[in-house]
Amino acid sequence: MNAPGPRLAAGGTAELFAWEGGRVIKLYWEGATRDAAEREAARTRAARAAGAPAPEVFDVVNVNGRPGVVFEKLEGPLLLDALASEPQRLDEFAAQLAQLQATLHQLRCEGLPPQREHMMRRVHLGPLPARVKPGVIDLLRTLPDQRMICHGDLHPGNVIVTADGAHLIDWFDATAGCPAADLARSCLLLRYARLTTGPQRAAFEPLRQQFVDVFLQCYRRILPEPAEALSEWMPPAAAARIAEPISGQERTALLRMIETLLAAA
Ligand SMILES: Nc1ncnc2c1ncn2[C@@H]1O[C@H](COP(=O)(O)OP(=O)(O)OP(=O)(O)O)[C@@H](O)[C@H]1O
Ligand SMILES: [Mg+2]
Repeated sequence: MNAPGPRLAAGGTAELFAWEGGRVIKLYWEGATRDAAEREAARTRAARAAGAPAPEVFDVVNVNGRPGVVFEKLEGPLLLDALASEPQRLDEFAAQLAQLQATLHQLRCEGLPPQREHMMRRVHLGPLPARVKPGVIDLLRTLPDQRMICHGDLHPGNVIVTADGAHLIDWFDATAGCPAADLARSCLLLRYARLTTGPQRAAFEPLRQQFVDVFLQCYRRILPEPAEALSEWMPPAAAARIAEPISGQERTALLRMIETLLAAA
């Protein structure tokens, strides 16, 4: 069994270590099951096979009882770090993120699970108040089905900018579905979510609004249709997000938005 090399990064669900052959291993925190690693490996492979800029997956392994995935090492900064160090390039970085998402949204994929079921499960299981849950579920049932690649967590903290262009990591929640749903989720994350715990967090706060505006404007120029359908997808996307361990402040903002949009529908 190989031993991991130096620790390179740490995230919410895992730590990243150097691995033999110039690769990296994403080792899940203790308590994660092998299923989690298998799921991330399978979804990353499926997205890559359909043409998405995702790292190559080499193996799923156990290291001292912790499950891990061995990936190709992507060389370059996170888009979020690039933005934190050069905020004057915001327009360029937001356009890069929009281009990346629009590229995925033009790729069909049969190898990923359906988005609607993924969202429905979260809406059902999450702590959504009973006064809005049925409205969100009814709306989600009526929205169209598609089979395009949806990353499920696309934000600048999951993009590595390499010499070959921007690549996406963290495909754990990827599905095949409607681009507008994935776009809605990205807009919500950019507007309200804590994207990282590091020092980039403070740097991103004052840039949120401008970043999401430029991002959406650029996306709309490339793919107008999903941008048109955005407001329909906002309530279910926000409701699914509420099932995650988010801050009280984010939960309040999302819930207020769901109520306003359902009342206007
Ligand atoms: N293939 C890769 N090549 C190089 N660096 C990587 C690769 N995959 C992940 N990383 C680094 O490891 C960090 C954590 O990875 P990832 O986002 O997949 O983990 P996570 O725990 O799910 O993160 P979070 O929950 O905080 O979003 C990334 O921010 C990045 O710096
Ligand atoms: Mg991540």
